[in-house]
Amino acid sequence: MLKTKDILDEKDKRLRLVSKDVVFPLSKEDKDIIDKMIEYLVNSQIDELAEKYDLRPGMGMSAIQVGVNKRYFVIVNEVDPDEEDNNKRFDTYIVVNPKIISNSMEKIYVDMGEGCLSVNRDVEGIVPRYARVTVEYFDENGQKKTTRAREELAIAFQHEIDHLNGILFTDHIDKNNPYKGQDEYRAI
Ligand code: NI
Repeated sequence: MLKTKDILDEKDKRLRLVSKDVVFPLSKEDKDIIDKMIEYLVNSQIDELAEKYDLRPGMGMSAIQVGVNKRYFVIVNEVDPDEEDNNKRFDTYIVVNPKIISNSMEKIYVDMGEGCLSVNRDVEGIVPRYARVTVEYFDENGQKKTTRAREELAIAFQHEIDHLNGILFTDHIDKNNPYKGQDEYRAI
């Protein structure tokens, strides 16, 4: 089982690597890592388990965050937020070799501030993201997929694709003017 300490911290230089394209079929090791990342993210969104295993809540994790330099990540998105622990249901995305093929003009940002399992501190400022993106990728079996994502899910895809390119959300924040664009973009 993956633990919080297994996730690389922002100071770790490996997070700055550009991850390498995956060649199918996926190895057993990669499939195991995918299972563990999903398990971590699901548990982290169930309050009781998050507390029990001391997990920080997260909805996305890229392979590089556990030290694997390959272009894949998982997203675990709660279907109906506000449900009680035992009724929670999740959509799970296993995303390999992704490409954003189109995006909205409109940009949004997370009002509460974006978060990352590798960034263990409060970060001030806004991270502009496309409100909608269409992403092409492969699933764990090499099947081609297309997902049209909007709002929070769109942000999650953009955040994780950034990880594959060695980019952290903090890089998008203007150091001198962290709230730049606040009036121009829509808060979610
Ligand atoms: Ni992250």
